[in-house]
Amino acid sequence: MRFSSTAAVLAATVATVVAEDKYLGFNSGATNDQGKVKTLEDFKTEFKSQQELKGAPGKFNAVRLYTNIKPGSEDSPEPIEAIPAAIETNTKMLLGMWASGTTNVDKELAALNKAIEKHGKKFTDLVVGISVGSEDLYRISVDGIANKAGVGADIDVLTKFVKDTRDSLKDTDLKNTPIGHVDTWNVWDNGTVASFIKEVDFLGVDLYPYYENGKNIPMEGGNDIKNAFPLFQTAMNATLKAAGDKPVWITETGWPVTGEKWEQAQPSKENAQEFWRQVGCYYFGKVNTFWYIQKDSNPDNKMKFGLAPELNGEPLFDLSCPDDIKRPTNGGTVKGGNNGNNSTSGGNSTSGGNSTSSGNSTGPGSNAPNGGSAGPNAGSNPSAPVNSNAGSFVKTNAAALALSMVFAVAAWAL
Ligand SMILES: *[C@@H]1O[C@H](CO)[C@@H](O)[C@H](O)[C@H]1NC(C)=O
Ligand SMILES: *[C@@H]1O[C@H](CO)[C@@H](O)[C@H](O)[C@H]1NC(C)=O
Ligand SMILES: *[C@@H]1O[C@H](CO)[C@@H](O)[C@H](O)[C@H]1NC(C)=O
Ligand SMILES: *[C@@H]1O[C@H](CO)[C@@H](O)[C@H](O)[C@H]1NC(C)=O
Ligand SMILES: *[C@@H]1O[C@H](CO)[C@@H](O)[C@H](O)[C@H]1NC(C)=O
Ligand SMILES: *[C@@H]1O[C@H](CO)[C@@H](O)[C@H](O)[C@H]1NC(C)=O
Ligand SMILES: *[C@@H]1O[C@H](CO)[C@@H](O)[C@H](O)[C@H]1NC(C)=O
Repeated sequence: MRFSSTAAVLAATVATVVAEDKYLGFNSGATNDQGKVKTLEDFKTEFKSQQELKGAPGKFNAVRLYTNIKPGSEDSPEPIEAIPAAIETNTKMLLGMWASGTTNVDKELAALNKAIEKHGKKFTDLVVGISVGSEDLYRISVDGIANKAGVGADIDVLTKFVKDTRDSLKDTDLKNTPIGHVDTWNVWDNGTVASFIKEVDFLGVDLYPYYENGKNIPMEGGNDIKNAFPLFQTAMNATLKAAGDKPVWITETGWPVTGEKWEQAQPSKENAQEFWRQVGCYYFGKVNTFWYIQKDSNPDNKMKFGLAPELNGEPLFDLSCPDDIKRPTNGGTVKGGNNGNNSTSGGNSTSGGNSTSSGNSTGPGSNAPNGGSAGPNAGSNPSAPVNSNAGSFVKTNAAALALSMVFAVAAWAL
């Protein structure tokens, strides 16, 4: 049942409207739910819809992208069509640069610099941040490898890419734009990444209580929706602690509206709404937040997170934030976390990933068809959608260059 617009307006009158100095946005993959590359019109429809979402507690006028490159233009990288669409719809952008399965970010930077040349300040004024990479460290973590999450990149590689990005932008209007990295909360909580945290201006955290099956944060009732807020806050607090004085942005969170039960976590519209109220309504306006998602991109992912899949401003449930939301106060203890402990050098922790080689043991090809990285121990990761349908490419392409293109495809698929 659709939430009626009349009801939304009524609800909005008794609900909190969040502060406007923090970004409210959605994630946006480069392909649609049929796996087709999104056109300029597709992006415009999407960005308009999110700004017109009925009953929303604020204006969702920001978007997080995964790559700068227009799919298919890798040989001579062109900017992704999301950029002109964002300019036309006055949508702020957290840009993304795909950093796994590649030895450089030259193509990402070429596309970005082309966009700067072509659109000038109309573009650069809307860019609120740049993320170098997305869950690259998760994919080569113990959990990521166990879940066959795909090829990642280690902190040495990411550190180099961050420096290359700063260097490439130093004489452009993006020179003061914050440059960060997005990863799962339990990666940020691992003391081995402390040296990398020093390199970034902000930490983007992907955090899904739906996938918190109790391994990392044991809690009575597990990942039942009832625990969503304490699970989220425990993990978020651990991330904030690891971040020190660096800002933390919520770059992905959400609860599936349909799909499989995951231990105690049940997908449903009701639970997705409860999650929005418990977690979203708490952090909106306090922390830059990019929700997952308006409309799913990956046809293979069994869990559907899209909360306004018609892209017409009509959400599947009431998005308002009532003033009287009750939140559980119990917190959890992070298990096995070595927060703040940097005793392990970052150098070798990632050898398992073998990220730029053609080895396929951790490549996207090994990803389960249903979005493997959301596997049983996935900690906090439905970014599973990321590369689940890139498998067929991998089998036919052995070279690292080909792999880097595969990963660009993977990024778009999200
Ligand atoms: C998280 O930190 C906030 C602010 O310090 C605190 O109020 C809250 O109780 C903490 N929550 C959990 C679950 O640890
Ligand atoms: C950090 O890790 C080392 C080695 O595992 C351990 O001896 C030390 O107690 C840890 N420190 C903290 C603060 O956890
Ligand atoms: C942790 O990092 C700090 C800052 O870089 C450094 O001073 C300290 O020696 C490191 N501790 C360990 C155990 O490596
Ligand atoms: C790093 O990994 C390589 C290859 O697996 C190994 O030979 C080397 O001993 C490791 N170095 C450290 C410090 O663990
Ligand atoms: C932290 O990272 C190191 C190196 O990758 C890994 O060995 C360790 O298991 C991780 N710790 C946790 C709690 O995930
Ligand atoms: C990475 O994988 C390639 C191909 O499978 C292999 O030849 C190489 O030795 C591996 N490197 C490391 C460091 O494991
Ligand atoms: C790569 O994948 C194929 C098919 O999935 C498999 O037969 C092969 O053993 C894998 N190679 C490596 C190095 O894992």
